[in-house]
Amino acid sequence: MNYAYASRTGNVESIVDNLGLDATRINDGSETMNGDFILFTYTDGYGDVPEEVLNFLLGNSQYLKGVIVSGDTGYGEAYCQAGDKIAEDYDVEVLYRVENAGTQEDLNAIQAILEKQ
Ligand SMILES: Cc1cc2nc3c(=O)[nH]c(=O)nc-3n(C[C@H](O)[C@H](O)[C@H](O)COP(=O)(O)O)c2cc1C
Repeated sequence: MNYAYASRTGNVESIVDNLGLDATRINDGSETMNGDFILFTYTDGYGDVPEEVLNFLLGNSQYLKGVIVSGDTGYGEAYCQAGDKIAEDYDVEVLYRVENAGTQEDLNAIQAILEKQ
């Protein structure tokens, strides 16, 4: 499995790093994947998919196998909604919702999920 991630303030990047994943960083969304991948993203605006992730998915969604999404519960109903939007638009599952950079428990849970993919 391949991995791609978007991170603006470093939380998602630290998750990916702590999991030891060799993942493609999404900068402007022009990056290309060559096979199946799981996406790690943050949530922007009010429940929005980050712009660079929208761009990235336009070119790579055929390989998208699932999404792991970071958010902040302070956003209430919009918590991690970027993941729900991507799941709906591309017919994939939200594999995990994580608050900010997550806890060790979150990392363990994500690790277990990735091993099953
Ligand atoms: C401007 C802004 C808007 C955000 N909007 C939401 C939101 O609607 N829902 C949510 O769950 N989290 C929201 N967040 C929280 C981030 O998604 C969360 O902190 C995430 O871990 C950031 O990841 P990053 O550090 O990798 O960029 C927002 C953060 C910022 C700065």
